[in-house]
Amino acid sequence: MPKLYIETVGCQMNMLDSELVVASLRNEGYELTASAADADTILFNTCSVRQHAEDKIYSALGRLKHAKREHPHTVIGVLGCMAQKDQGLIFKRAPYVDLVVGPGQLHQVPALVREARRERVQRMEVSLGRTDGSRDQIERSHESFDPMRDPSMRPTPYQAFVRIMIGCDKFCTYCIVPSVRGPEQSRPPAAILAEARQLAGEGCLEITLLGQTVNSYKYRAGERIWHLCDLLDVLHGIDGIERIKFVTNYPKDMTNDLLAAVRDLPKCSKYLHVPAQSGSNAVLQRMKRGYTVEEYRDMLARTYETIPDVAVTSDLIVGFCGEDDEDFQQTVNLVRESRFKNSFIFKYSERPGTKGAERYVDDVPEELKRRRNNALLALQNQISEEDNDAFLGREVMVLVEGPSKAAEKNGQVQRAGSSPTPDEVSLMQLTGRTHCDRIAVFEGNRRQIGQFLPVVIYDANAHTLFGEIVTQHVGPELFGLPLPLAGIGGKKKSE
Ligand code: SAH
Ligand code: SF4
Ligand code: F3S
Repeated sequence: MPKLYIETVGCQMNMLDSELVVASLRNEGYELTASAADADTILFNTCSVRQHAEDKIYSALGRLKHAKREHPHTVIGVLGCMAQKDQGLIFKRAPYVDLVVGPGQLHQVPALVREARRERVQRMEVSLGRTDGSRDQIERSHESFDPMRDPSMRPTPYQAFVRIMIGCDKFCTYCIVPSVRGPEQSRPPAAILAEARQLAGEGCLEITLLGQTVNSYKYRAGERIWHLCDLLDVLHGIDGIERIKFVTNYPKDMTNDLLAAVRDLPKCSKYLHVPAQSGSNAVLQRMKRGYTVEEYRDMLARTYETIPDVAVTSDLIVGFCGEDDEDFQQTVNLVRESRFKNSFIFKYSERPGTKGAERYVDDVPEELKRRRNNALLALQNQISEEDNDAFLGREVMVLVEGPSKAAEKNGQVQRAGSSPTPDEVSLMQLTGRTHCDRIAVFEGNRRQIGQFLPVVIYDANAHTLFGEIVTQHVGPELFGLPLPLAGIGGKKKSE
C-alpha cells in the first residue's frame, strides 16, 4: 500500500481540507504514515496568514532536498493558501517539489498525485487571482472541496467541521485570505444539511460550521434568503447532533436574530469567536475593519445581554502600521473590559499584495510588537484565570474528546493502590469541552470518550478546568476516591 505523509498548518479551514484530501487519497489505496521518511507521497497543507507560517513550510521543504535526491520517486506536494499565493516561486525555491495546488483546486489532488508519479513532470493548479477575470469566472475557479465524509479521518468521530462558506470579501488591509481563498461564496443549505445528516448517521455528535466570516452566510434559494440563524434552526432539528458551533464571526454581522438563535437553541454552544483586532478607531480604520470600537462595544453588550452565560473569544493584532502607545493602550482597555474567554494575539506581519503593505509602512519595531504582545497576553491570561475560577465547585456538561495531551505522552494512567479492576487499569486523564467551549480535564475510562458527562470542577488555571466526573449511580466514595466537592464553596450550577 502506498504511504501518505501530510503536514498541516493554518486555520480550521485547512484542518478540514487536509481531512478531506487524506480521505480522497485513502480511496485510492493510500494509508497514512506519521513519518515523512516512510512516505511515497509527502504533502504540506500551507498557510500564508503570517510570514512565520510560510517560513515553517519553506524550511520543512528545505529538509527534503536530500531525501528527494535519494528517493526520486517520492511525490512532494504543496497545497493550500501558500500554494495559491506563491505559485511558481515554490518551484524556484524548492525545484524538487512536484505539485503546487491552491485551496480552490484540492479536488484535483488524487489525479495530480497519480500523474506526478507516472509522468514525473511538475504540475501547478491554482485559481484565478482577484483581478484576473469577471466575478463569475473567479468564483468558478475557486471550488469548494466537500466530498463524502469519512469518520475514520477525523481526530475524533464525534466531532466534525462542516464548511458553509468559502472565501472572503471583507479585504481587511492586513489580510491575505481574500486573495488566496477567493470570493465569498455560501454553500447551498441543502448540501450543508445533507452533510450534517450524514455525519449524524455516522455517530457525529458535534459539528462546527466554518467560514472566514461565518455569520455573513447568505444564500438565495428561490424567493427565500437563508442566513446563519436559519441554518442553525434546521441543523438543530437533526437527531444525533447534540452540539453546534460556528467560527469565525465578523463583528458587524452579529445580528440580533443570530444572538437570539444561539440563546434559544439548546444545542448551540454558548460560545462566540468575534475578533476585535484592535481597540483603537484610528487603527481599525487603517485596517478597514468596517466598525468603530464603540460599535464593537455595543455588539458585545448586546451579546452579553442576550446570552448571559456566553463565552466570547477574540483575535487581536499588535503593532499594525502606525500603532502608537495610545492606540495600544486603547486595545488594552478593550481587552480589560470585554472579558474575553481567551484571545489569540498576533504580531502584525506584513503580507505582500495586501492593501496594508501597499499603503502603510510596517513601522512598529519587532521588539515593541513583542512587548505589546506579551503585555496583552498577560492581561488576557489574568482575566481568563479569574473567569475560570468562577467555575470552582460548579458542575458542567462535557463532551469527552479523548485522552488529554499529558495522558497521550505518558501512556495510560493507573491509580496507585489496591488491585485494579479492568476499568481502573484503563483509567487515564481525559479531555473535553464544556458547552461554552472551555477545556476540562478529568480522570476517566477510554469507554467514556464520545459521551456527554457531568464534571464537577475543583481547580482551574487560565486555560483549563480540572474536575471529576460526577458518578450518578455509584458514589465516588465506593471507589475509595476523595469527595472532591466536600468543603469547596461556591454555587453549584449546571451550565
Ligand atoms: N476570518 C477570520 C480569521 C482570519 S485569519 C476573521 O476574520 O477573523 C485569523 C487571524 O489572524 C485574524 O483574525 C487576525 O487576527 C490574524 N491575522 C490576519 N492577518 C494577519 C497579519 N498580516 N498579521 C498578523 N495577524 C494577522
Ligand atoms: Fe481576513 Fe478580514 Fe476576511 Fe477575516 S474578515 S479573513 S481578517 S479579510
Ligand atoms: Fe491561513 Fe489560509 Fe487559513 S492563509 S489562516 S490557512 S485561510
